[in-house]
Amino acid sequence: MNKHYYITTPIYYINDVPHIGHAYTTIAADVMARYKRICGYDVFFLTGTDEHGQKVEKAAAQQGIQPRELADRMVSRFSDLWEALNISNTGFVRTTEERHRKVVRHIFQKVYEKGDIYLGDYEDWYCVPCETYFTETQLKDGACPDCLRPTEKLKEESYFFRLSKYEDRLLKLLEEHKDFVMPEVRYNEVASFIKGGLRDLSVSRTSFNWGIPVPMNQNHIVYVWFDALANYITGIGFLEDMEQFSAFWPCDAHLMGKDILRFHAVYWPSFLMALDIEPPKHVFAHGWWTIEGQKMSKSLGNVVDPNEVVRTYGVDEFRFFLFREVPFGLDGDFSRQAIVNRINGDLANDFGNLASRSATMIGKFLKGKIERPDVRNGADEYVEGNVRRLIEEYQKEMEIFAYHKALQDVFEIISILNKYIDSEAPWKLAKEGDGRIKTVLYNIWNSLRIAAMLLYPFMPAKSEEIWNAVGIGKPIAKVRFDDEKVFYLADDLGYIDKIKPIFPRIEG
Ligand code: MSP
Repeated sequence: MNKHYYITTPIYYINDVPHIGHAYTTIAADVMARYKRICGYDVFFLTGTDEHGQKVEKAAAQQGIQPRELADRMVSRFSDLWEALNISNTGFVRTTEERHRKVVRHIFQKVYEKGDIYLGDYEDWYCVPCETYFTETQLKDGACPDCLRPTEKLKEESYFFRLSKYEDRLLKLLEEHKDFVMPEVRYNEVASFIKGGLRDLSVSRTSFNWGIPVPMNQNHIVYVWFDALANYITGIGFLEDMEQFSAFWPCDAHLMGKDILRFHAVYWPSFLMALDIEPPKHVFAHGWWTIEGQKMSKSLGNVVDPNEVVRTYGVDEFRFFLFREVPFGLDGDFSRQAIVNRINGDLANDFGNLASRSATMIGKFLKGKIERPDVRNGADEYVEGNVRRLIEEYQKEMEIFAYHKALQDVFEIISILNKYIDSEAPWKLAKEGDGRIKTVLYNIWNSLRIAAMLLYPFMPAKSEEIWNAVGIGKPIAKVRFDDEKVFYLADDLGYIDKIKPIFPRIEG
């Protein structure tokens, strides 16, 4: 049986256009999906849009259209962006689809019948302009934490989920799976939140209409998060295709930003426990991007459009930058100068120059023909030993989403090669008629090919370009890490005489 791997992004709200934050989570999931595919897994990669709720209802009303019409217009903004970013998702869920509404009604009913959803009164501090409830501790000097206007105590009928009942089971889950929440700082945050005590959760609203009606009471709409989280089971065929569902569930990794971790690491597993469905294996929360040192916001007018960034710098350059610049899991700052520096430094100088220099030498000195050498000395073995070690380290880092360290491993290979080419000086060997030139150029080319493969999850198109330039028939995505060929090429070594600049320098 094939090994299965299931990864998800959050489903995005459609009341706003996609920005760099949305792009970040989705590219991060794409990196893992591509990595797992070259590791031989059958990957299901799900993304989608979160289309219900009061904000969408309001935005549509302002434009004088139906909420569904607004959703239909906005959804392509997201799917077009995913295409521009070379996202390889295998599924896309819209919460307005009938298959999803069916799932939500079904699970709400089931949990209700079990006694874990009950009707009660919801009472808390309400901000009328924001139409949002806040707990006492969330208030800022008694006022709304968002708009700072006064709040009032309000009471409304609501269905509640018995979250308090799941406190012990959640703590046990965390205790037994130290990597349930990643990275570690987030694990500690979630653990202390649960230990602080869980209140039952309101899972229905009566104040707006745009959503899925509660099956046993049409006056209530299912709370957006109960609705949205269920997309993760809809997307792989829950109810419709239980065979596929069982092949991919439990989910291997839910990815999201730190702001929505609690919904994924506390509420979602409890809903699943109430349904007797296994919780996901890992929940990974990444950090937030600021823009040139400032919080990104519409009012500051500094919201970064990923489409524009891709047009200016290139899609693979953008994808690479996001994970090379900032450790995945921490907050980071997006600046144009930083992208330019990465492109000119890592990509054009260190990697691109090495590739074109060695290609030119292979063309000039070896007439384009690469051969596997039979004599090697200590310097060659040093290169090979390090490359093998770094391939292993890279794999370990990828497994735990340490993308930043995985990229450091690749650039260590490149730096070793740059030193090797300088110290072995193939141009001198050529002049002296020394046969060692074949060994040296073979080693460089072979290691560059490996570096291209390791970069593939991050820069799929550019890596493929390098790979093709090496003259290997098999597409990169078809190669497997567990294949010894990753290290040693077979007989199809190919001919190389030049390679067009893959990463041109840019002015900035
Ligand atoms: N609809 C909910 C998710 C439901 S999942 C069952 C939602 N949507 S969202 O559109 O607001 O945002 C989704 C993702 O974008 C989150 O992972 C969030 O962390 C991420 N980002 C939004 N702004 C961001 C930054 N400035 N930086 C990095 N990521 C940020 O929440």
